[in-house]
Amino acid sequence: MEYRHEPVMLDEVLGYLSPRIGKNYIDATLGGAGYSLAIAGRIGKGKVLGIDLDESAIENAEKIIKRNKIKNLVIANDNFAILEQIVLEKFNGRTVEFFGIVFDLGLSSAQLADRSRGFSFAHDAPLVMSFGLTQGGGPKTEQIVNNWSPAELTRIFREYGEEKFAGRIANAITASRIQKKIETTGELVRIIERAIPLSYLKKPGIHFATRVFQALRIATNGELLNLEIALESAVKLIASHGRIVVVSYHSLEDRIVKNIFRREAKGCICPPDLPVCVCGRKPRLKIITKKPACPSVLEIGGNPRARSAKLRVAEII
Ligand SMILES: C[S@@+](CC[C@H](N)C(=O)[O-])C[C@H]1O[C@@H](n2cnc3c(N)ncnc32)[C@H](O)[C@@H]1O
Repeated sequence: MEYRHEPVMLDEVLGYLSPRIGKNYIDATLGGAGYSLAIAGRIGKGKVLGIDLDESAIENAEKIIKRNKIKNLVIANDNFAILEQIVLEKFNGRTVEFFGIVFDLGLSSAQLADRSRGFSFAHDAPLVMSFGLTQGGGPKTEQIVNNWSPAELTRIFREYGEEKFAGRIANAITASRIQKKIETTGELVRIIERAIPLSYLKKPGIHFATRVFQALRIATNGELLNLEIALESAVKLIASHGRIVVVSYHSLEDRIVKNIFRREAKGCICPPDLPVCVCGRKPRLKIITKKPACPSVLEIGGNPRARSAKLRVAEII
């Protein structure tokens, strides 16, 4: 199956990252390699390290590298949560300076379209939803659905999916799995459909299963924790005046990015009532986008997937 993904806010990402000849960059979410290739083409002998958990993204990038004889794209099939370790391994322990990193969070169009992956409520598939089939190591979606307590399910549906009927859906899942293990996305969609009021099912707008599927994907892949860990590492890894660019697609991710940027831009973490700083922490970031940048109406028209994108940028001091 061909790997298809239209890069979101590519011009803005390149504008903020401003790749320079001879410098190295990290694309923490390689996907269809849209950002990686654009960066690689602008930096001469500088290198791009492209990371992805998904084997199919890696295979696709390997083909592109071979076909186009690209010499400066280094790829890693791994989790960006272990950024520093990946850099050490890929550059044989040599000290390499990176002048920017970009994260384009969530899943690619290719992953969503791949019927076997279980990301979409539109196709019946096993409950998998992992970004990486061999990497990752988080809880399996099927395990979450069949073993987590109603309280835990309610929490993730509410927190990660902002689902209004979180409790009702969690109870319906628990009742259903007593009769029979829930094995497919189709079974799950039917349970959700029965659990929520008819009036809500008929509302125009997003599909009634969207929020539960989003919550399960986030839980399966440990997305929020991975992002926090990776941003902390990026702050340490990227060279002075280098930039951290993050494109996120839902409010939870955007909040994590905003809060980490703010905290690192502030430095001191002493309680406000202390007359002098005792923590000694210095600001490590300068925030470049006070408010997140959003895609243009034109881009959204051509690529509806871009509609929820928010881009934030910070610069290492
Ligand atoms: C939105 S796509 C990136 C698209 C890419 N910017 C492009 O232009 O084609 C997000 C990618 O990040 C990957 N991903 C998500 N979480 C990851 C993680 N913790 N570590 C590595 N890759 C991850 C997904 O597998 C997916 O391929």
